[in-house]
Amino acid sequence: MSLDSLNDFITALDAAGELRRITAPVRVHLEITEIADRVSKQPGGGPALLFEHPVLRDGSRSAYPVAINLFGSMRRMALALGVTDLDAIGWRITELLDLKVPEGFLGKLSLLPRLLEVAKFPPRIKSGTPPCQEVVWRGDEIDLDRIPVLTCWPEDGGPYITLTMVISKDPVRGIRNIGMYRVQQLDKRSVAMHWQRHKTGAEHMRQMAERGEKMPVCIAIGADPASMYSASAPLPPNIDEFLFAGFLRRDPVKLAKAVTCDLEVPADADFVIEGYIDPAESLVTEGPFGDHTGFYSEADLYPKVHVTAVTMRRNPVYATTIVGRPPMEDFYLGHATERIFLPLLKLTTPEIVDYHMPAEGGFHNLVFVSIDKKYPGHADKVMHALWGQGLMSLAKVLVVVDKDVDVRNVTEAWWITLNNIDPERDVRFTMGPVDVLDHASRAFTYGSKMGIDATRKWPEEGFTRAWPRVIGMDETTRARIDALWPSLGLG
Ligand SMILES: Cc1cc2nc3c(=O)[nH]c(=O)nc-3n(C[C@H](O)[C@H](O)[C@H](O)COP(=O)(O)O)c2cc1C
Repeated sequence: MSLDSLNDFITALDAAGELRRITAPVRVHLEITEIADRVSKQPGGGPALLFEHPVLRDGSRSAYPVAINLFGSMRRMALALGVTDLDAIGWRITELLDLKVPEGFLGKLSLLPRLLEVAKFPPRIKSGTPPCQEVVWRGDEIDLDRIPVLTCWPEDGGPYITLTMVISKDPVRGIRNIGMYRVQQLDKRSVAMHWQRHKTGAEHMRQMAERGEKMPVCIAIGADPASMYSASAPLPPNIDEFLFAGFLRRDPVKLAKAVTCDLEVPADADFVIEGYIDPAESLVTEGPFGDHTGFYSEADLYPKVHVTAVTMRRNPVYATTIVGRPPMEDFYLGHATERIFLPLLKLTTPEIVDYHMPAEGGFHNLVFVSIDKKYPGHADKVMHALWGQGLMSLAKVLVVVDKDVDVRNVTEAWWITLNNIDPERDVRFTMGPVDVLDHASRAFTYGSKMGIDATRKWPEEGFTRAWPRVIGMDETTRARIDALWPSLGLG
């Protein structure tokens, strides 16, 4: 079944036994968070939740249900992207990138279907009234208080819209960007836009400020799950996330013209908040916010979005997420990115065999990477290559191990690392940009990084002692015990 909308996704989750409906009235102020937090700490991430009767901050019943933890397990994340194994998407990308032209006429012809497949993905503009504009609020009708926006944690600066697709355009090249950036509701008709300085939306705003123009921006909530995920994917700024979502879905994303801004939005979105930022206006205080590091991030200054329209489906569901002490739903979104982007990392750093960002590291704090070591200093080369690429440049601790280490098994990765290092020899420190959310760095978004070379050391690297072998049983004994095992009653 193709998942063209949030409603399709929820129906598919229900059919797969992955959804629990909560009929009890539950407040959007803190209570939904407390339930979702407990559920996401269950083994494997717990079920997705649909709150059918959320209670708004003024005590009234919300007209719209709240869906949360939709992507919060390996199975649901794969289901959202139409695969059974997230690595399958990486393999598809590897095939596409393998553009070595085959020998002979027939060989060359065999490339055609692959190239045509790519041509099918660009988003299409739908004519007529799209589902996302079945209901339109303009002017005085606009009232964000009627949407069940969660106040997530007790010390948060206000209610936050979290599972967003923030749409903006590069004013020079016209390339669209969709980013998952939280927005803080300020009042009935304005929000603060939390795009961090390293993100594409923030770059678009810098460009608009230089031109002295107002910036149109749309915040879509709920759509086909591939588009929802793609907003969180760290694609290079010249790739439209809706094109990427079309590739993931194997079907183009349908877009519609926004009603009050010159932007296109997902035609099947549940809600779209349309508006503009005036770069000439003072920034506003955004935060504090209970963040995905598990700590509150401090309040800071961000641009205000003036809402010019809210459009929605006739029966929309408000999709949201919470972040906090890991693991939470965002771990699974990040995990999809980790798997999907492996071939892209390999394109520039082919010696990478695999990598993994454990939940405790919240993406930027810890990256394990295994390499096919070919020469002395190879681990250092890979560390610097990664610190030079996109958002990987924000990685605080990078640990490099040999190719035979399973980096997705964090216990194994630490076991090998801690055994293999001579700390003074193998730990490197360098400086660079760090994540906006890093509260320990000496300066905001600037600090040190640590690289650990946990590969086997070579004589050419000055290591002249013998390197020990990992303990393992011989094959003959293993086979004998395999045969005996069922009769031993040991499980
Ligand atoms: C649940 C969730 C919330 C996020 N919130 C923010 C945010 O508030 N600000 C931000 O800059 N990035 C946030 N991110 C990370 C961005 O979505 C991510 O870096 C994405 O690649 C940005 O898109 P861009 O490369 O088009 O800028 C969040 C990610 C997730 C999964």
